[in-house]
Amino acid sequence: MRRKLIAGNWKMNGSLAANAVLLNGIKGELGQPACAVAVCVPAPYLAQCRAELAESPVAWGGQDVSVHESGAYTGEISGAMLTDFGARYVIVGHSERRTYHGESNDLVAQKANVALGAGLTPIVCVGESLDERESGRTSAVVGAQIDAVLAVLDPSELSKIVVAYEPVWAIGTGKTATPQMAQDVHAMLRTRLADKSAEAAELIPILYGGSMKPDNARELLAMPDIDGGLIGGASLKAADFLAIVRAA
Ligand code: PGA
Repeated sequence: MRRKLIAGNWKMNGSLAANAVLLNGIKGELGQPACAVAVCVPAPYLAQCRAELAESPVAWGGQDVSVHESGAYTGEISGAMLTDFGARYVIVGHSERRTYHGESNDLVAQKANVALGAGLTPIVCVGESLDERESGRTSAVVGAQIDAVLAVLDPSELSKIVVAYEPVWAIGTGKTATPQMAQDVHAMLRTRLADKSAEAAELIPILYGGSMKPDNARELLAMPDIDGGLIGGASLKAADFLAIVRAA
């Protein structure tokens, strides 16, 4: 059985003071959750997460990782630096990185590989734009994104990744894929994973992301191939994030 994962993606939000309120709000009400829970935070706040979350069931992670191990790469953050601060996860290939930083499918695949090498669990994001969906190219686009990752990873490592399907048109827009629309893409992704390793495909959590909220989480999470959520906006309010964790 795959254990569900609810991961917050804070993006470029937060401050020491605001994070303390948010993290204490989550910790205070969480209890022993039935699913795995994580927050992916801006790198300067990893130390704060380590201090605040070490004794809690909440894991933490970064939002990007360099493909390089160390050296003259100004502004980059290595996998070893993330693990130095106790990070368990790192998001790779978020659509905002693909769009604003020109990250290609191949670069994202390398990042997933480097993350695994550093002992991190990469949360590999895939998803189509509105234009791509409306022109019937969702499977081709999302398929190419996941295939690039499958081409690079060692089959023995494959079961250690997490995949997040995030339709670009649903991110931060308040528009959510219907449960069936999401399920169709998740099932397609699981088939692609199974082509590489049937065993791994059964183990890999496939998260949905894109305006998941307390009021739509339950029906999305009820679909057979939706194994959790990558939550942007709703992860910045403890009550909303906790409501999604409870739905899972
Ligand atoms: P959203 O963002 O929940 O605000 O739509 C999700 C994401 O980008 O990971």
